[in-house]
Amino acid sequence: MSDIPQERRVVTAIPGPKSQELQTRRLAAVAAGVGSTLPVFTARVDRGIIEDVDGNRLIDFGSGIAVTSVGASAEAVVRRASAQLQDFTHTCFMVTPYEGYVEVAEALAELTPGDHAKKSALFNSGAEAVENAVKIARAYTKRQAVVVFDHGYHGRTNLTMALTSKNMPYKQGFGPFAPEVYRVPVAYGYRWPTGPDNAGAEASAQAIDQITKQIGAENVAAIIIEPVLGEGGFIEPAKGFLPAIREFASAHGIVFVADEIQSGFCRTGQWFACEDEGIVPDLITTAKGIAGGLPLAAVTGRAEIMDAAHAGGLGGTYGGNPVACAGALGAIETMKELDLNARAKEIERTMKARLTTMAEKFPVIGDIRGRGGMIAIELVKADAPEGAAAKEPNPEATAALAKACHAEGLLVLTCGTYGNVLRFLPPLVIGQDLLNEGLDILENAFAAL
Ligand SMILES: Cc1ncc(COP(=O)(O)O)c(C=O)c1O
Repeated sequence: MSDIPQERRVVTAIPGPKSQELQTRRLAAVAAGVGSTLPVFTARVDRGIIEDVDGNRLIDFGSGIAVTSVGASAEAVVRRASAQLQDFTHTCFMVTPYEGYVEVAEALAELTPGDHAKKSALFNSGAEAVENAVKIARAYTKRQAVVVFDHGYHGRTNLTMALTSKNMPYKQGFGPFAPEVYRVPVAYGYRWPTGPDNAGAEASAQAIDQITKQIGAENVAAIIIEPVLGEGGFIEPAKGFLPAIREFASAHGIVFVADEIQSGFCRTGQWFACEDEGIVPDLITTAKGIAGGLPLAAVTGRAEIMDAAHAGGLGGTYGGNPVACAGALGAIETMKELDLNARAKEIERTMKARLTTMAEKFPVIGDIRGRGGMIAIELVKADAPEGAAAKEPNPEATAALAKACHAEGLLVLTCGTYGNVLRFLPPLVIGQDLLNEGLDILENAFAAL
C-alpha cells in the first residue's frame, strides 16, 4: 500500500517538467485518440492524494472516473491481489475455473437488489458487460430491440457506441452503428420544459408512448438505463421516472437493465443507486468501483434470464481474471469494513452544503445534484435572461474552472451532453480535511472566474 501524507503539495507548475517530458514521449508513441484530462504523470496514489513524478501531491476528486472508491492502493485489494499474483495470474475460467470467480459471483448475488435467485458472468470492462447484458436479454426474450435514453452513456465499443447518446467525442466518424437501438426521453429535471416536478410523470409517459408507437413493446428485448446518468451530466431521473419504466418493462416481458457501472458499489451512498427508489432490476451491469482499480466487470441478474444464453455463448479469454477477482473481494471487504455507504452520504452532506453556499454567490451555478460521492454542478451563463434561456449551458466557464483547479493541485472532471458539468467523484476514503481543502480551491476558482 502506498502511504502518502494526505496533504496537497504543489512544488512545480502543473504539469511539472518531468510530466512534460513524459508527455512529449507519449505524444510520439501513443495514439492521439486516447486523451487525458490532465497530463500529469502519476507516481503513487493513496486515498485522496495523487503524487506525480515531479513530487506534486494533487487532491483527487476523480477516482479514475469513479473507480478507486476504496483508494488506488487499498490494503485489502493489494494484499489479496498480491497473494493471487503469487499463486497464478491466469488460467482462463473457460478452461480451468478457480474459486475467486465464484466468490465474486456469490458476493454480487448477495449485494445486488432483490432476493430472487441470481447468477453472474464476469468480464473486463463496462462496455463489455453492457454488450453481454444485451446478448443475454436477446437470448432470453427472443426479441431484438434495445431501448436507451437521451444523455445515456454505455461505452465505446460498436454496440455501446450505438447505445451512447452523445456524438462528440464518442461516436463521430466511427459509424455505422449497430441496428435495433432506440433512444427515448429521460426525466432531466433541471431542463424539463414544464419543470422538475412534472418531469418524472411526463418523461416516462413520453418514453413509453414512443416505445409503444415506434417500436412495439413486444419487440423490445431490453431497456437499459443508468439510475444516475454519469457521463451525460450526473442526471438523477426525476422521481417516479424509474419506477414507471420498471413497471412498463415488467408488464411487457422486457428485461430491465440497470447500468450501475458508474453509480454502483457505494458511490451514491447505497450499494446500488437504483435502491433509492426501490427498483429491482432484472439485470445489473457493474464495473469501475467493483475491484479497487483492477479491470473487472459483471452482469448479474435473475438466474432464469442469465441462464438463457447457451454454453460457450458468453465469456472471453480474460473475463473474471483471478487477480481482478481477488481485488474485487478486497474492495468489497473494504467497503463493508469502512462502511463506505455511510461515508458517501457524509461526503454528500459536506459537498452540497459548501456548493449551496457557492451557488448563492456565483450565479453561474445553475444546478447542484447527485448523491453520495457522485456530485455535480451544472454551469450556465449567469447574464442570460429569465426563463428557459437562463439555463444556457456554459462550457467555457466549466473548462476554465477545471483548468484553474488543476493548476492549484485539485483534480476535477467535467461531463455533460453540453460540456457544462463539473463532476466530483472523490475516493470514498478521502479525509474530511482534504475534501474541504478541495472545495476551498473550487470556491477560489469561482471567485477568480
Ligand atoms: C454508466 C456506464 N456504462 C458503461 C461504461 C463503460 O465502461 P468502460 O469504460 O469500462 O468500458 C461507463 C464508463 O464510463 C459508464 O459510466
